[in-house]
Amino acid sequence: MTTSNAAKSGTFKIGGDLVVHRLGFGAMRIVGKGVWGEPEDREEALRTLKRVPELGINLIDTADSYGPEVSERLIREALHPYKGLVIATKGGLLRPGPDTWIPCGTPDYLRQQVFISLRRLGVERIDLWQLHRVDPKVPRDEQFSAIAKLQEEGHIRHVGLSEVGVDDITAAQKHFKVATVQNLYNLTNRASEAVLDHCEKHGIGFIPWFPLAAGNLARPGSKLDAIAHQHKASPGQIALAWLLRRSPVMLPIPGTGKVKHLEENVAAVDITLSDDDFQALNKLA
Ligand SMILES: NC(=O)c1ccc[n+]([C@@H]2O[C@H](COP(=O)([O-])OP(=O)(O)OC[C@H]3O[C@@H](n4cnc5c(N)ncnc54)[C@H](OP(=O)(O)O)[C@@H]3O)[C@@H](O)[C@H]2O)c1
Repeated sequence: MTTSNAAKSGTFKIGGDLVVHRLGFGAMRIVGKGVWGEPEDREEALRTLKRVPELGINLIDTADSYGPEVSERLIREALHPYKGLVIATKGGLLRPGPDTWIPCGTPDYLRQQVFISLRRLGVERIDLWQLHRVDPKVPRDEQFSAIAKLQEEGHIRHVGLSEVGVDDITAAQKHFKVATVQNLYNLTNRASEAVLDHCEKHGIGFIPWFPLAAGNLARPGSKLDAIAHQHKASPGQIALAWLLRRSPVMLPIPGTGKVKHLEENVAAVDITLSDDDFQALNKLA
């Protein structure tokens, strides 16, 4: 059993006032295959969620569409009333079946999904609500304006965006303060580097999804092996340690439905990469 604690990853203030430990947890992997339906091992999924706060993690990322509904429900079952935890959810995608995701940003749909997440999570206000995708079929200002209204009414505390460019962030800022951006980013995929730099400059939290490249970076046999060996660590831990070192606004949310993997991921906070390690890893993009 690990004695590591996510507090060691340092803190970040979401929206300037909501303090979280930088290493969080992604709750997309506690559901069924294809992010659809109940998990294969429900008890293990619940054990994993219960272990999250014990390891000092206080930022949990989920979405109405994970399951759909299943992830938010299990989080409530395991952790309500969430003492000291920030449950960050998302909306804005339709789920007609396993592995299928369709953006839907009509104002009525976004509003409905916020109200359903409030009810399902059992909260009066969502600490961080993220627009899962900007829907290309709906003018983005209409989507942002609907979200601003929900925030003004007090249903959402902070607003985040997902899979956006700097231009979307700037457009959204005219409607609300963008607290976080959640884009695909990891050691080997840095397509969002410019967005990360923008977030760092403006104090916006950057939540890299696929921090372990969906598990590929956690497997032995990659160029990470040598550095991992030196640190007596796993390749996945090195990938997470690199993310934490890359920027003070970085909030990685590795996903798993297994206690063992969760504990292994949290232990990444105990790794201190040397400048040479960091430079060598930078070259692996
Ligand atoms: N905004 C978006 O569009 C978006 C898209 C995708 C994901 N997300 C969010 O980002 C989070 C992270 O992304 P992700 O879960 O897709 O990918 P990830 O964190 O890069 O990798 C998760 C995968 O790696 C495996 N894994 C985790 N820890 C491991 C370990 N220590 N050893 C071996 N395998 C390990 C997991 O399997 P096991 O369950 O078997 O451990 C799972 O299959 C999600 O949970 C979700 O909250 C957001």
